Amino acid sequence: MNTIIVYGSKYGFTKKCVDRLAKELHGKVDLQDLKNGTNITISEYDTIIIGGSIYAGRIQKEVTEFCTKNLEDLKDKNIGLFICGMQEGDAVETELTQNYNAELVKVAIARDYFGGEFNFEKMNFIEKFIVKKISKVTSSKTNLLTENIQRFAQAMNS
Ligand SMILES: Cc1cc2nc3c(=O)[nH]c(=O)nc-3n(C[C@H](O)[C@H](O)[C@H](O)COP(=O)(O)O)c2cc1C
Repeated sequence: MNTIIVYGSKYGFTKKCVDRLAKELHGKVDLQDLKNGTNITISEYDTIIIGGSIYAGRIQKEVTEFCTKNLEDLKDKNIGLFICGMQEGDAVETELTQNYNAELVKVAIARDYFGGEFNFEKMNFIEKFIVKKISKVTSSKTNLLTENIQRFAQAMNS
């Protein structure tokens, strides 16, 4: 199995999840931060995993652009989709389905949520203000859902 994980990450939490996921997957796994380029030779891979973090309800623009640009080719691959964020419960499913093309959601072998992190050392002033006001969180907080990463990897490996 030849796999690539393409992802968007602003402050590194999604990247942390990508590294953990890569270790759990069988076969060769390439990683591509979409900030560093979206020109991926899709034909080289059987399996494409796409992930990103959510800010104000939206996944990174480069993740959406990658999915839109390559939709037809992606539909023929083994697809996995995930998001990272601090929302919990029903909001997570809404965030996932609103941020990925419905056709990709339908064909995905695994789709999941890996948790999130508020990193007060890295956030800018406005972000800290928003997080304090909306989420009522006033210091750094991490919620990395290792079991969800393992469950996702198992589904992709089977
Ligand atoms: C200004 C701001 C807005 C955010 N909005 C959302 C949101 O709408 N939904 C959500 O689930 N998480 C939200 N988050 C949490 C981020 O998705 C979370 O911090 C994530 O782990 C960031 O991952 P990254 O470091 O890979 O970018 C927000 C965080 C910040 C700082």
